[in-house]
Amino acid sequence: MLVPVLAIGGLGVVAVIGVVAAFVITGWIGQPIPVLGFEQTFDQPIDFPHTIHASLKQLDHVPADGGTMEGLGLDCTFCHRTVTTQANAGIPPVGFCATCHQVIGAEGNPQLTILRDAADIVGDDGSQPVNWQRVHRLPDHVRFIHEPHIRYLTQNPSQVEGTTDGVTEGPSGVCSTCHGNVAAMKQVEQVESLKMGQCVDCHRDNGAPTDCVACHH
Ligand code: HEC
Ligand code: HEC
Ligand code: HEC
Ligand code: HEC
Ligand code: HEC
Repeated sequence: MLVPVLAIGGLGVVAVIGVVAAFVITGWIGQPIPVLGFEQTFDQPIDFPHTIHASLKQLDHVPADGGTMEGLGLDCTFCHRTVTTQANAGIPPVGFCATCHQVIGAEGNPQLTILRDAADIVGDDGSQPVNWQRVHRLPDHVRFIHEPHIRYLTQNPSQVEGTTDGVTEGPSGVCSTCHGNVAAMKQVEQVESLKMGQCVDCHRDNGAPTDCVACHH
């Protein structure tokens, strides 16, 4: 964490991360996710690269101050705050991004300009998220809750599938089971079918409920 942070601008960034942490604690914990509609398209309002934020590897991205850059290696739970406690993983609101991006990243970067403008529009509380398109979306008749899955997989690492270029310890190390290597994705895509058969197979193998009402309203 420290090495890439120093490479992109020294102690200022450390301070910014402190501000982000304070923001998270006082801000938006428990907010429902306000993203709308499932679209097969990956046209997002802003091209958000998981690589830069979540990977720990060397990237082909050239940072604002030139040179090379390793990913920041942020925990998945740094942004997806409610994944260990609630049904929804949660998507951070724009003010959360702005705590870093008011200062980090080139001034003329078009994607960051959209982000900074959005942060201005929503004001200081930054409580609104960008209107991201949902990538994963189960039908309305199905119930999925992240919390028991993250807990179970963290306690039973032998059931974790796949690997990640990001943080492997704790909750962030189990997401690959259903989402693949998100830390290596410039644009998130769904890599597992997440169809009923996959859910039921894993439930049967791990002694989880397989009765219809466990997953259906
Ligand atoms: C902990 C600080 C931090 C947070 C929080 C953060 N970013 Fe970043 N982000 C970075 C750094 C560092 C870079 C690389 C900057 C550079 O190119 O010099 C970056 C780059 C980007 C880029 C530019 C990509 C490119 O190809 O030039 C976008 C877009 C972006 N971030 C969006 C977001 C969004 C959206 C959020 C909120 C969900 C967010 N960031 C939260 C640190 C952060
Ligand atoms: C800096 C904040 C940040 C970090 C760190 C981060 N994410 Fe995300 N994530 C986002 C944002 C913003 C979106 C919505 C935009 C998009 O879909 O690209 C998102 C979208 C996603 C989605 C798709 C959601 C949907 O619509 O179905 C998944 C899955 C996901 N992230 C998993 C992860 C995993 C796994 C990690 C850790 C390896 C991680 N994220 C780390 C900010 C972050
Ligand atoms: C057992 C499979 C499974 C695991 C493990 C899992 N997810 Fe998910 N995730 C899903 C499914 C299924 C959906 C779609 C849920 C829906 O449409 O109701 C989803 C949706 C999401 C979304 C978008 C909607 C939301 O809930 O905010 C994000 C972001 C996300 N996951 C992040 C993560 C992160 C981060 C981890 C690891 C800490 C993780 N997931 C672990 C199956 C999983
Ligand atoms: C990697 C294996 C795995 C996959 C894949 C998986 N689950 Fe689970 N699920 C579990 C386990 C294990 C539990 C029980 C965890 C515990 O409480 O100990 C569980 C619990 C649940 C619960 C809570 C049940 C209750 O009443 O306690 C729901 C709802 C659920 N899963 C839905 C789904 C759906 C829907 C899918 C597919 C999109 C899915 N799961 C995919 C392993 C999995
Ligand atoms: C572990 C979770 C889980 C359990 C248990 C489960 N389902 Fe499902 N079911 C799903 C998911 C996820 C979907 C949506 C994805 C898909 O269509 O496969 C689904 C979809 C369906 C559909 C719609 C299929 C379609 O093509 O639109 C029906 C009907 C259905 N389930 C019936 C049942 C019945 C009956 C039971 C009990 C015998 C049951 N399910 C048990 C997770 C589950």
